[in-house]
Amino acid sequence: MRLITSLGLPAFFTLSSALSIPFSDSSTHVKRQAATTTKYVVAHHIVGNTYPYTVSNWASDIALASAHGIDGFALNVGSDSWQPARVADAYTAAKNSGTGFKLFISFDMSVLPCSTAANAAALRTYITTYANHTNQLKYDGAVFASTFSGESCTFGQSSVALGWQTQFVQQLNGTNAVYFVPSFFIDPATFKNYNNSFNGQFNWNSGWPISLTTSVANSQLSASGTSLNNLSTAGQNILKSYIGSTATDTNYVTNLKAMPSNGESRAYMAAVSPWFFTHYSPQTYNKNFIYDGDWHLYPTRWQNLIAIRSQVDLVEIVTWNDYGESHYIGPIEGAQPNSQAWVNGFDHQGWLYMTQYFATAYKTGTYPAITKDQIFLWARPHTRNATSSDPVGKPTNYELDQDQLWAVVFTTAASTVTLSTSAKTNQTFSVPAGVSKLNMPLTVGGYMQGQIVRSGKTIVSLSPSGYSFTATPSSYNYNAFVAYST
Ligand SMILES: *[C@@H]1O[C@H](CO)[C@@H](O)[C@H](O)[C@H]1NC(C)=O
Ligand SMILES: *[C@@H]1O[C@H](CO)[C@@H](O)[C@H](O)[C@H]1NC(C)=O
Ligand SMILES: *[C@@H]1O[C@H](CO)[C@@H](O)[C@H](O)[C@H]1NC(C)=O
Ligand SMILES: *[C@@H]1O[C@H](CO)[C@@H](O)[C@H](O)[C@H]1NC(C)=O
Ligand SMILES: *[C@@H]1O[C@H](CO)[C@@H](O)[C@H](O)[C@H]1NC(C)=O
Ligand SMILES: *[C@@H]1O[C@H](CO)[C@@H](O)[C@H](O)[C@H]1NC(C)=O
Repeated sequence: MRLITSLGLPAFFTLSSALSIPFSDSSTHVKRQAATTTKYVVAHHIVGNTYPYTVSNWASDIALASAHGIDGFALNVGSDSWQPARVADAYTAAKNSGTGFKLFISFDMSVLPCSTAANAAALRTYITTYANHTNQLKYDGAVFASTFSGESCTFGQSSVALGWQTQFVQQLNGTNAVYFVPSFFIDPATFKNYNNSFNGQFNWNSGWPISLTTSVANSQLSASGTSLNNLSTAGQNILKSYIGSTATDTNYVTNLKAMPSNGESRAYMAAVSPWFFTHYSPQTYNKNFIYDGDWHLYPTRWQNLIAIRSQVDLVEIVTWNDYGESHYIGPIEGAQPNSQAWVNGFDHQGWLYMTQYFATAYKTGTYPAITKDQIFLWARPHTRNATSSDPVGKPTNYELDQDQLWAVVFTTAASTVTLSTSAKTNQTFSVPAGVSKLNMPLTVGGYMQGQIVRSGKTIVSLSPSGYSFTATPSSYNYNAFVAYST
């Protein structure tokens, strides 16, 4: 059943009712003065993976996210006819939760049609349906909305800018006015051409070091006399300089500020993501690649964003449940887009459990005190170079991956940390109170373990089952197994 049936506007909505509301400027939302200073952390939730969900599944996701510093979900909606019903359930669950958890629509323009005016009307129906909902995220008094992509949509107009402006943004006024922050894959230098088409931008790709390809790494490393196969400390530092980099964030912010303006806000939403591996054959989705998630990408990206928090209005975690690209931080549930081969058994909730600390620092400007000693460990299940009979082949840029165990420890006082990758292979580190990022080589046939020891006493010991590191996998899997102490 499809909730969106009417492509028309609600009958009660007339221009005079729009003008009766007390905005100083009655035309479009784009002309309002900036007021919002609250910072939000939201997570991208793929509604397309929620086919079996009921209100109670949404309720448990909302409770879990809310308990870990996440303020809301960006509901990624696609074209399936059942999706509006799942969106309705999500809003119902948010209201029932009593948490004040926020929701907004993120239109997936890689699948939603956008060549006609009627296509825009279908998007607007989502906005008008939830504009007054208690749990709708409002920004500068307007309905917050986002996208994945949309930089080719014209909605029957002569340009993309005019399409979004005349068919979407300017059709929504009064209580339906939108604060539109799409993720258009365009050169930020061209933002100024979209003056009345969007209020801000979401930098989707900022979550990963996408410019770091194997060939870029090889040329930079060889110039420093090192290589991906035998990294010197200088070589590690070259790779690490890409991890969590804020170079594209500052470019977006600069170009948003350069847009013509009467002083209205131009929100910048940054992405943070823990990983990326997708493995679909040419016969299916035809995408088989990684972005480098090594070198503690998730906490590093958070730390770097916190350092420039004054320029970042919202952070979107990519994602809660995108199993196909391996960047989920929520539980493995709902429906999967044929990603079971690299997702089942690879829980990522350790990344969710470290989120509250960083989200709080981002929102308040102060890192919270660490009150509990904790260990987080993650690693891939097979050697980077392993060969298997998997017909899909190794993912593009797999050569970047290091055969390392990645660890983060939260310690309430100076401690000794031991990481082990087999019974005979371990490393010991002295760490101060706070957050420490550690790593050591994985061992073929081995495992992952970690211990925090203080004053001769073992405070935390983490020894997860369900993980071993092999050189002979039955298929390629460059996803991460994530373990955490409770
Ligand atoms: C939303 O609330 C406003 C103000 O209370 C009201 O005028 C409008 O009709 C409501 N819209 C919907 C779709 O319920
Ligand atoms: C308000 O929205 C209606 C359609 O919803 C549109 O016809 C009208 O032009 C808009 N008004 C302004 C001032 O943009
Ligand atoms: C992986 O393969 C590359 C290229 O064949 C080789 O140079 C490198 O030594 C291998 N690495 C490991 C850890 O076996
Ligand atoms: C790795 O590089 C170091 C110098 O950084 C060098 O001493 C060592 O021989 C190299 N190992 C291999 C296997 O090439
Ligand atoms: C851009 O928008 C601002 C505020 O909405 C307006 O003052 C300005 O005239 C617009 N510029 C162009 C080129 O459309
Ligand atoms: C570390 O390795 C040594 C042998 O290399 C072993 O004797 C010791 O028990 C290991 N420690 C841990 C904590 O696994």
